[in-house]
Amino acid sequence: MSKDTLTITDNRTGKTYEIPIEHNTIRATDLRKIRVSEDDFGLMSYDPAFMNTAACKSTITYIDGDKGILEYRGYPIEQLAEQSSYLEVAYLLIYGELPSRERLEWWKYRISRHLFLHNSLVELIQAFRYDAHPMGILISSVAAMSTLYPEARNIDDPAVREKQVWRIIGQIPTIAAFAYRHRIGRPFNLPDNSLSYTANLLYMMDYMNQRDYEVNPVLAKALDVLFILHADHEQNCSTSTMRSVGSSRGDPYCALSAAAAALYGPLHGGANEAVLRMLQEIGTRANVPAFIEKVKKGERLLMGFGHRIYKNYDPRAKIIRKVAYEVFEATEMNPLLEIAVELERIALQDEYFVSRKLYPNVDFYSGLIYQALRFPIEYFPCLFAIPRASGWLAQWQEMLADEEQKITRPRQVYLGPARRDYIPVDQR
Ligand code: CMC
Repeated sequence: MSKDTLTITDNRTGKTYEIPIEHNTIRATDLRKIRVSEDDFGLMSYDPAFMNTAACKSTITYIDGDKGILEYRGYPIEQLAEQSSYLEVAYLLIYGELPSRERLEWWKYRISRHLFLHNSLVELIQAFRYDAHPMGILISSVAAMSTLYPEARNIDDPAVREKQVWRIIGQIPTIAAFAYRHRIGRPFNLPDNSLSYTANLLYMMDYMNQRDYEVNPVLAKALDVLFILHADHEQNCSTSTMRSVGSSRGDPYCALSAAAAALYGPLHGGANEAVLRMLQEIGTRANVPAFIEKVKKGERLLMGFGHRIYKNYDPRAKIIRKVAYEVFEATEMNPLLEIAVELERIALQDEYFVSRKLYPNVDFYSGLIYQALRFPIEYFPCLFAIPRASGWLAQWQEMLADEEQKITRPRQVYLGPARRDYIPVDQR
């Protein structure tokens, strides 16, 4: 008869242990029973980079990396990208269900009331050097919001938490747009809350007092789809950071600023920026084979390829590839696209990439779209951070409500020197 348990025999002692299996996992703390002596600490699992450790139970995002499935609250990403809007998806992530028409209007209204930045924050953004990386400004500005809304510390009050969610989702595009305008030395455009979430972002970035200014609806829609695709991705590096920093029960601004800092790195949300730099470095289609050779020798990474979870294909990349071609029709043709297409063609048939299951990920195409939209390269990670804020906040709230969660505190395997006595400096 089958039983939901695991039987382990410790060959050091000959003892046998029976450990429950729930949701296809064992509790790592159950391993602590396995000891060689009374004063033994007990067995631990060693899992650098959390390759096989579930750190939480979650009802937000489901991924099947082998089958290329991504769902938010059970809804397939393909259906959301096709039929929903970013703000509706943000609501779904935060509140768990799709809103009624009335609730959706209420939600859009709530967010539209929180687009404006506190003047102190505007002054802070202006104080950065003219060439400051916009992600550095975004990370610092979100952290600075903690000083402007000190009540946010009261994380046990659901109404206070909800208010910070509105503030962050409302203000983060404004912070990003101001960071951009600061960099190009132009005055800030105040948010226009009659526009959609992404149209307002494009407006704040682009508007130069033109009389006939209008946001291109094709581009606003494309950005909205990109935002849906980036909204959440379960326990990735930045989301784990959000949960981890949030687990010490500080305010959401500090946790979200830390999450954004984690996103900034080139192996995570900075990959779209890295893809573009790589394509620029390759320069021409003719240089592609030589670059691929360098990648195969381990001298370079093919940025925008590979994923920790998706080993078949990245479902977001499939959708984004289609969006990319729609955007290229509405904008000038991107000369780097030719190089990207050639890289993709070679990599998808080369044994090195095929055997390692390395496929284009979401960042391979998003960078090209952002470039076609004429965003500067260093701005790309901001366009990842804006929509991911809703995912981070949903995961943070879920973590706070989870009675099994405590402050994050991994263990280590200590391999340093054994105890030794201090020697005064003149005797060393
Ligand atoms: N180019 C060349 N080789 C690669 C790449 C790549 N992009 N990614 C993985 N490999 C190789 C790696 O060298 C290793 O080879 P070997 O078995 O010979 O040592 C093998 O493939 C397995 O790789 P891994 O390092 O064990 O994979 P991982 O799960 O630890 O890393 C990754 C995942 C995304 C960090 C990695 O694929 C990578 O660095 N990709 C480039 C950066 C990138 O595009 N990141 C965006 C990820 S999607 C957006 C997001 O969610 O943040």
